Amino acid sequence: MTAGSISGRDRDALLRVDGLAKEFDVSPPLLNRVFEGAGRVMLKAVDGVSFTIPRGRTFGLVGESGCGKSTVARLVVGLYGPTRGRIEFEGVDLATLKTRAEIEPVRRRWQMIFQDPYASLNPRWRVEDIIAEPIRAHHLARGQTAIATRVGHLLTQVGLSPADGTKFPHEFSGGQRQRISIARALASQPDFLVCDEPTSALDVSVQAQILNLMKELQRSLGLTYLFISHDLAVVYHISDFVGVMYLGRLVEWSDARTLFTTPRHPYTRMLLDAIPDLEMTGRARTPVAGEVPSPISPPSGCHFHPRCPYANDRCRREAPLPIRTGATEVACHGVEEERIPAGARPTLGRSPGRSPGRSPGRSQGSPAA
Ligand SMILES: Nc1ncnc2c1ncn2[C@@H]1O[C@H](COP(=O)(O)OP(=O)(O)O)[C@@H](O)[C@H]1O
Ligand code: SF4
Ligand SMILES: [Mg+2]
Repeated sequence: MTAGSISGRDRDALLRVDGLAKEFDVSPPLLNRVFEGAGRVMLKAVDGVSFTIPRGRTFGLVGESGCGKSTVARLVVGLYGPTRGRIEFEGVDLATLKTRAEIEPVRRRWQMIFQDPYASLNPRWRVEDIIAEPIRAHHLARGQTAIATRVGHLLTQVGLSPADGTKFPHEFSGGQRQRISIARALASQPDFLVCDEPTSALDVSVQAQILNLMKELQRSLGLTYLFISHDLAVVYHISDFVGVMYLGRLVEWSDARTLFTTPRHPYTRMLLDAIPDLEMTGRARTPVAGEVPSPISPPSGCHFHPRCPYANDRCRREAPLPIRTGATEVACHGVEEERIPAGARPTLGRSPGRSPGRSPGRSQGSPAA
């Protein structure tokens, strides 16, 4: 069973990922292996992840640091080749695209936005040249005037001014730099944006502005997002569907409302219980306990068992397969065996539909921060 059946019917799918896996060879150098008799060491960063993203919707991928989220992002945009599994964009298996002529038109249709906009913007280039580069590379406008007009339009679209084009990235705040990254990503007229922690380096008030901008752009341009964050509150704000990742595997996925109101997997519950109670309902915040183990030697059976209060012998022995329960798919023996009752969690302290952007700790501030 895959998340595809939850997150959209296949005919609506822009992206379909099936059984995606990525192993990194982290073996010691050959000489050490020969002299110390050590074998190869493989790190399973992503271990059989499946999901579908319908056109025009947002799939949020959440989990603690080290769970494999960025590796999924890099696999999806082709920065890494998968060890196993399949990625389809509009029904086309990307592995079947071999020549530059086949790859380029598809490649143009997705872009990636990273956590650190400063690192991804060339500090020696003026903003207008940074944004014009994909326009020139993909021949999307011809002539200086047409390109300058397009760059000015893109800057306006992300809440900056065309006059900002003559400045350099260091002349902007963190939030403004992320707006520039978004303008550059939009320059090649993509359908699909893979956003890897795009707001994690920003202050909370600026985070809300960037998330709102992304939602506006999604509405006006019909964009589809894979949105990655370690922060469940941020993911809730922007996502239609959410997948929770733990040590390379998707452990629960559902539509955002269901996942936040009736989380089933003990890991999802742990993440939710750690969100601060911004509306001061009196709910106790329970900090996340323990750490993500190394994916080089993950725990047997269910990877989460050393941290799970519901773990039993079967959990330690056997990896759980996803089961469907209501609108959710969840991989947990405790849920399957009905040892973990549905809905048994404290209130989140933020009613569904209320966003981090509208809660007291996430004020709106000025539009172009
Ligand atoms: N290029 C790489 N080579 C070796 N290990 C890697 C590489 N990229 C990521 N990893 C490892 O894969 C695991 C998942 O990493 P990552 O996808 O960055 O997780 P996340 O984005 O959820 O923090 C981590 O243990 C990380 O150290
Ligand atoms: S499978 Fe077992 S250890 Fe894993 S989350 Fe479910 S109850 Fe906990
Ligand atoms: Mg990451």
